[in-house]
Amino acid sequence: MAMNLKLEKALNDQIKWELYSSYLYLSMSSWYESTGLRGFAHWQWVQAMEERDHALKIYDYIISRGGRVILRQIDAPESEWKSPLAAFEHSLSHEQRVTGMINDLVNLAVKEKDHASYNMLQWFIDEQIEEEADAGGIVDKLKVIGSDSGGGMLYMLDRDLGTRIYTPLTPATPPGQQ
Ligand code: FEO
Repeated sequence: MAMNLKLEKALNDQIKWELYSSYLYLSMSSWYESTGLRGFAHWQWVQAMEERDHALKIYDYIISRGGRVILRQIDAPESEWKSPLAAFEHSLSHEQRVTGMINDLVNLAVKEKDHASYNMLQWFIDEQIEEEADAGGIVDKLKVIGSDSGGGMLYMLDRDLGTRIYTPLTPATPPGQQ
């Protein structure tokens, strides 16, 4: 069955938002590098790669349904934040916005009776729970650290964030190898 055109357009828009997320987190990573927080930089770099994988997951899905991918323009992200807490609060609010977008896509899939898209989007529903919990957990830690004048707790969190492992998503395969 041909792909529903409303879903195709909306999923193309979502590819752009996932790539924008990747851009935003890579920008945060480079800002952390400039502040010497290399563990924070590492964590957001991994996040940027995961967001690119999210874009590719939707890209692969549209193609597997015989749809057409049309890439959109991506705006430049911010490049400076007042503090690690401000940057992670930005991450959390951005993820909450993305969750709203995924929910809108699910609602559209239900309205258009596009069961395959509905099914594919369930992965993103689960992923958003994790994304919000991850960013929210670090916001909470940074709030506690805010009252630590010595900086030792920030150093420990930086070391901890530097251990995040990037695991590529398996559906991101080159054309011809699906
Ligand atoms: Fe792909 Fe962080 O949402």
